[in-house]
Amino acid sequence: MKIAVVGTGYVGLVTGTCFAETGNHVTCVDIDEKKVEKLRNGKITIYEPGLDVLFDRNIQQGRLKFTTNLAEGIKDAEVIFLALPTPPGADGSADLQYVLRVAEDLGPLLEKYTIVIDKSTVPVGTAEKVRQKIAQAAKVEFDVISNPEFLREGVAVEDFMKPDRVVIGTSSKKAEKVMERLYAPLVRQGNPIIFMDEKSAELTKYAANSFLATKITFMNEIANLCEKLGADVDAVRKGVGTDTRIGKRFLFAGIGYGGSCFPKDVQALAKSSKDADYDFKILDSVMEINQKQKTKLIPRVKEYFDGDLKGKTIAIWGLAFKPYTDDIREAPALYNIEELLKEGAKVKAYDPEAAENVRELMGDKIEFCENYYDCAEGADALMIMTEWPVFRTPEFDRLGELLKNKVIFDGRNLYEPANMEELGFTYYSIGRKTINGKG
Ligand SMILES: NC(=O)c1ccc[n+]([C@@H]2O[C@H](COP(=O)([O-])OP(=O)(O)OC[C@H]3O[C@@H](n4cnc5c(N)ncnc54)[C@H](O)[C@@H]3O)[C@@H](O)[C@H]2O)c1
Repeated sequence: MKIAVVGTGYVGLVTGTCFAETGNHVTCVDIDEKKVEKLRNGKITIYEPGLDVLFDRNIQQGRLKFTTNLAEGIKDAEVIFLALPTPPGADGSADLQYVLRVAEDLGPLLEKYTIVIDKSTVPVGTAEKVRQKIAQAAKVEFDVISNPEFLREGVAVEDFMKPDRVVIGTSSKKAEKVMERLYAPLVRQGNPIIFMDEKSAELTKYAANSFLATKITFMNEIANLCEKLGADVDAVRKGVGTDTRIGKRFLFAGIGYGGSCFPKDVQALAKSSKDADYDFKILDSVMEINQKQKTKLIPRVKEYFDGDLKGKTIAIWGLAFKPYTDDIREAPALYNIEELLKEGAKVKAYDPEAAENVRELMGDKIEFCENYYDCAEGADALMIMTEWPVFRTPEFDRLGELLKNKVIFDGRNLYEPANMEELGFTYYSIGRKTINGKG
């Protein structure tokens, strides 16, 4: 099949590359000239495990191309994916300007029956808005359908190639058949393609992300309560997660969720609900709690240094919002760094993949280190912000010698408090006993 993908970011590049891998001819379109130039030169623009191999192979075999020209990119395409940004607008709603602008541009360019697919996360009613924009100038038949994307950064290739399910929102039988053909190679194990109407598909994506954000937040609240009551959130998690109605995943307590999706999607669903005159209370609580949770360790750090962080150097392990990605959008690390700088502390940071993106954002406001031991060297304390596996089993003796004080503030509960006690560290984590701490 001939496919166009408009918007070549995290979702667009994975979508385009994976569909090329299943034998389609894909052209990815983006307005970012530098990005397209890099991609055309065979250089991948995001870090996503496993994507580079597919990317190289499909470029070499001529199935994956890149352009900044929309007309050229969509020429002869049977289906056009819109994988465009939908950032939060000033009022919290999803900003549809990118999606609707491209829809408007597409109208006069369509030359034969085409399916335009909303893969961006968009509010209920967007497929209809996109249809109207295209219809303003289209001279041929077309369908607009909703096909929300559920991939997780860090395991995006696996998620895309073996999705738990594919959700397709359309009332067109013709479009349904094409989508079945397109997705068939990805659902061979029997994972379902779930067909529904456009509005329900659009809402499904927001419901899924908001539910997951709520699950994380609920467990963070339990963790906060554990601290007050002297219980251990890890034990509670195991006790709760083994109930098959609840499930083991998304129950780890920590310094809150971040990323390009959960924060904006919860906010957008809350706004859609308000617009529909529905008071979706739980979402407001989730947002408020998560915001507080991100910098939950800062008061502990201040307390440890008797309220004064001026001139103290804090080492930060992990900048990405989660492991195996270089995405730093809404990353808790950034909020913590801002707080530390405000308090007059110096920050040294290390992340296996995300340092470049933070450097672009913060310049020389912080120091970037080549590895995690360099980062710890001479620091007054260590904070752990992302659960990269490499941080899980450091050489604690060496770490203890490198740090000025043997103190760790662990936002991701990587270590066993009892071990840290044996090793002689002061150890703060989330929802568990503090070891040798103050207060
Ligand atoms: N990142 C994720 O994990 C994820 C997962 C599921 C769904 N989504 C949703 O997918 C959508 C895209 O997210 P993303 O993370 O890939 O965003 P992104 O910012 O990484 O990529 C968007 C791309 O669109 C390009 N673009 C902007 N305007 C354009 C135009 N007029 N023509 C062509 N290209 C244009 C940008 O230059 C950018 O490269 C969002 O709605 C997001 O909520 C994201």
